[in-house]
Amino acid sequence: MTNGTSFKQRLSWTTTRTMEVCGLKIPVSESLAISRSGDAGWDSNVAGVRPNSSLKSTMKRMIWPVIRFSENILGHQFLQYTLARWIRKYANENTAFLECGPGDMSLRRFLPRAIAYNAVEFGVSEFQVRRVLARDPRVNLVLGSIESIPLADNSVDMVACVEMLQHVPDVDKGLSELVRVCRPGAKVMVTVANGHCVKVKTKGANKHFVHLFTEADFRARAERAGLQVLEHEQVGKWVPVPQSLIGGHSMHLPIHSKAEEDNCYFVYLFGVQK
Ligand SMILES: C[S@@+](CC[C@H](N)C(=O)[O-])C[C@H]1O[C@@H](n2cnc3c(N)ncnc32)[C@H](O)[C@@H]1O
Repeated sequence: MTNGTSFKQRLSWTTTRTMEVCGLKIPVSESLAISRSGDAGWDSNVAGVRPNSSLKSTMKRMIWPVIRFSENILGHQFLQYTLARWIRKYANENTAFLECGPGDMSLRRFLPRAIAYNAVEFGVSEFQVRRVLARDPRVNLVLGSIESIPLADNSVDMVACVEMLQHVPDVDKGLSELVRVCRPGAKVMVTVANGHCVKVKTKGANKHFVHLFTEADFRARAERAGLQVLEHEQVGKWVPVPQSLIGGHSMHLPIHSKAEEDNCYFVYLFGVQK
């Protein structure tokens, strides 16, 4: 198997702390309080690893294509295609790439093949450790928070944050951390949930959100941190399918509506100014 260090632009985490998960040593941010808990990553105050037995992981792996398929149909997968376009345009084999809050790490499929996929994740499941970290040597993941990224200043060329900043308590610190670790001119791709869209007004907000952003609010926070909007779009038409039919999920279509409240997502390409 290829060694992880043979991928270009593998970032060095500024921590010596590690945690053993499913036989792998995962780096952990020095100051992060971690636990093994089913809430890790879901609860914005609980960081760490969600335990899954190897039986559960095997069963989940068997149905993973179905889970992915339903995510593609119902979820926000279409957001990745906008990011994929920006990655194609701006990333090359010299790009130091970082994803914050990567979830299932599926965005890595759009990166140039030669480069490492660096990621800061607050809560990871043992299932994803077995499915991704144990198998894909290009993945370089640290358990940590965007509020205190364990990286040196000016070390990153491109960042992705997909549907994660509405979960981060000190989002302004998170945005300023992005600017700190990025080189001047770096590209930062962000999607956040519209906290005042028709879906939220009708169903109520996702219980895990700690921020309900408007476009103006989020843009102002990003600009204050030193992020300049290069491109922006609003997308995601909510389809009010009865919850019982789709297992409690929400269905969205990749449609751009004129009214802000008819779009579930705000999508940005920022340039780092410093
Ligand atoms: C809604 S999920 C989105 C996952 C993935 N980006 C996607 O689009 O499917 C939010 C993710 O952000 C992570 N997260 C939450 N708070 C975080 C923090 N402070 N720092 C880094 N990641 C965080 C969660 O663990 C989770 O993986």
